[in-house]
Order: sequence, then structure tokens, then C-alpha cells
Amino acid sequence: MTARVSAFERPVTREATGGYAVTLRGIRKQFGSSVAVEELDLDVRPGEFLTLLGPSGCGKTTTLNMVAGFLTPDSGQILLDGQDVHQLPPDRRDTAMVFQQYALFPHLTVGRNVGYGLRMRKRPKAEIRERVAEALERVGLAGHEDRLPGQLSGGQQQRVALARAIVVQPKVLLFDEPLSNLDLKLREQLRLEIKHLQRELGTTSIFVTHDQTEALVMSDRIAVMRAGRIDQLDTPETIYREPANAFVAGFVGQSNLIPGVCTEAGAVSCTVRLPTSNVDVHARHSGTVAAGDAVRILLRPEALRLSGDSAANSITGKVVEVVNEGSIATVVVEITADIRLRVAVSDPAALSLPAPGHVITVSVPPGAARALPTGK
Ligand SMILES: Nc1ncnc2c1ncn2[C@@H]1O[C@H](COP(=O)(O)OP(=O)(O)OP(=O)(O)O)[C@@H](O)[C@H]1O
Ligand SMILES: [Mg+2]
Repeated sequence: MTARVSAFERPVTREATGGYAVTLRGIRKQFGSSVAVEELDLDVRPGEFLTLLGPSGCGKTTTLNMVAGFLTPDSGQILLDGQDVHQLPPDRRDTAMVFQQYALFPHLTVGRNVGYGLRMRKRPKAEIRERVAEALERVGLAGHEDRLPGQLSGGQQQRVALARAIVVQPKVLLFDEPLSNLDLKLREQLRLEIKHLQRELGTTSIFVTHDQTEALVMSDRIAVMRAGRIDQLDTPETIYREPANAFVAGFVGQSNLIPGVCTEAGAVSCTVRLPTSNVDVHARHSGTVAAGDAVRILLRPEALRLSGDSAANSITGKVVEVVNEGSIATVVVEITADIRLRVAVSDPAALSLPAPGHVITVSVPPGAARALPTGK
């Protein structure tokens, strides 16, 4: 009896969404005749750092803005912590957003910028002062309360924006390309800072970027978006190693995507014939490829080997370019007039690199090739 009562005491709505912090169900948004987001489903786990990754215009910002409540979906449902937020305006959703343009009030001091959300929530002055100081300390800006945003660098301004978001202790943090205005070094540093801070706070986060490295480095899971839909949602490792299709493979990481035809397919592996060279390559697949299918073979440059002889599972071609960056070199090998393979060589100083014009053999180690559906 007691067990039953306690089961009823749990929030029913949260049960219904399986305990997810954010759920999007069949979300759609159209601007005029163009569809920005199409029937999108997404579940974000509590405490998770989830990234929406995709090319410009694929609907990342639109999706984020619908979660925040800045935009209303044409159809579908958004639940935060199991609660349908359709009726709730942005300031009652318990989310906080960090934008690409820091969006600070220029005439307010850093302290007042960070404390803004708490003043809106009518918190007592002493509490605001304390929480603002703590938030600034967390982002490495302790004691900067009295500066104006214009007296800070871009990186510092973005830290203020971050402090302003975390100070209200939102259930969900939303980030829309917060690092893309910063130079590379600062971007690399802030990536890690944001990730560590998010881990420490344990706040569920949705991060938008079109930068694949950022997504790979920061995320628990990545949703790769294309044209208003999610093509694949998985951990960075799986997205990289087992991309669902050629689009995902091409978007995440360096890749050679060679066209071919599957001549024979088992449950997890297949044979692919390359178009002109009459070469067969053995490849893995995820059950998505059948004999007769046109496919793309994914060969990551770092998985290929330059070898002297033409052993099994190898491709012969002519070296057209060698780019030696010291710790890594890229050898570009022409297989046919329109197919080139990039082979990454780590520690090039230890090897004698082939010269342009040489005919060489590139071997594909077992498991290094993946056959992907060409994927519309
Ligand atoms: N207010 C708007 N009015 C009309 N069309 C819009 C509006 N906002 C977005 N769109 C269109 O919706 C599509 C998705 O836009 P969105 O801003 O979500 O893309 P994004 O993935 O964030 O791109 P980016 O990486 O460039 O920021 C685009 O085709 C865009 O032109
Ligand atoms: Mg955007």
C-alpha cells in the first residue's frame, strides 16, 4: 500500500517522459514557405551536455529558441522536466541562454548585468550580491563587478554572459554558438572552461555549434542536424566511428568518401567495388547496405597506411601532394581523375615520405573502411 502511494507522489508528467530534462516531440517550425525545423524529436537527459551540430541554416538556432520560448513551434510539444511549456513565456521556463553576441547591457556594470535575472526574480539585495560574486568567481572574473562591459575583452564579456546565465541556477542552459566570436586560442580555452563548469554544476545543457571540433570535445552526445532534422544522435565516439550516413561522416572529422558499389553484403561487413580501379575493399556497415547498392566508403585519413606492396585491401594511386606540418603529414593520392585519397601520416620525420609523382599503394587495415548509404 505504502509503495503505491509513494509511486503516485512522484510527478506524473516526469514519469511520462522517462525522466528526461528536455523532450521535443514532433517539433516543426516554418517561416513563410521555408521549413526551418521538421518533425524533430529529441530527449535530453538530466545533467547532459548535448550539442546540436550542423551546417548554417539547418535549424539549430530555431530549435534552441523554441526551447527557450523565444519562438513558438507550429506543431509538436516541448517538455521541460516533464512539464509541457507551451503556455510559458521565456522568463518562466527556467532556462538561461548564452548568445554568440554577448548581449550584455552596455550601460550596466558587470555586477548589475550578472544580477539582472535575480533582480527580476525579486531576490533580496544581500543574496544577489553574494550570488553575483560567486558566479563571477566561477567564471574567473572575481572582483570585476564594477567594470562596464566595454572595459572588458571579448572573452571576458562572454564569461560575464556565462555568469549571468548560471547565476539564476536554471534547469537548462542554452548556448547558441557562444564561442564563435572569439579567436582560436581563447575558443579552445573557453571550451574546456564551459565544459568543466557545466560538469561541476550538473546543469542540463543544449549547445549549438557548427564547429565539429567543439562538438566532439565538449559533448556527452551530439545531434547532427541537416535541413531541419536530426540525422544522427549519439556519443562523439560513435558519431565519429560509426556515422549513420555520408553526410554525417563528411561533416564530422576528416574523411575520404569514395563512391563504390556493394557487390556482396553480410550482416555487418560487405565488399565494395571501387568504380574504375576494379579494386574490392572490405568494409564494415551497420546493416544499412545491401548487395547492388551504390555506397560511399568512409576511410578516415589517419586509419590508412602507406605501404610498398599491393596487398589485399589496398588501393594504388599516384601521389599528387604532400603537406608536411611537422607532427603530422598529409599525402594526397590520386586514385582516378576525380577521386583523391588523403592519408595522414603521424610522426612523418620517422618515415621517408613519398614524393609527388610516385605511384604508391595505400593499404586499408581490417576494420578501417566503413560502407555508408549514400544518404539523401
Ligand atoms: N525569423 C526568420 N524568418 C525567416 N526565416 C528564418 C527566420 N529565422 C530562421 N529562418 C530560416 O530558417 C532556417 C534555419 O535557421 P536557423 O537560424 O535555425 O539556422 P542555424 O542552424 O542556426 O544556422 P547558423 O549556423 O547560420 O546560425 C534558415 O533557412 C533561415 O534562413
Ligand atoms: Mg544559428
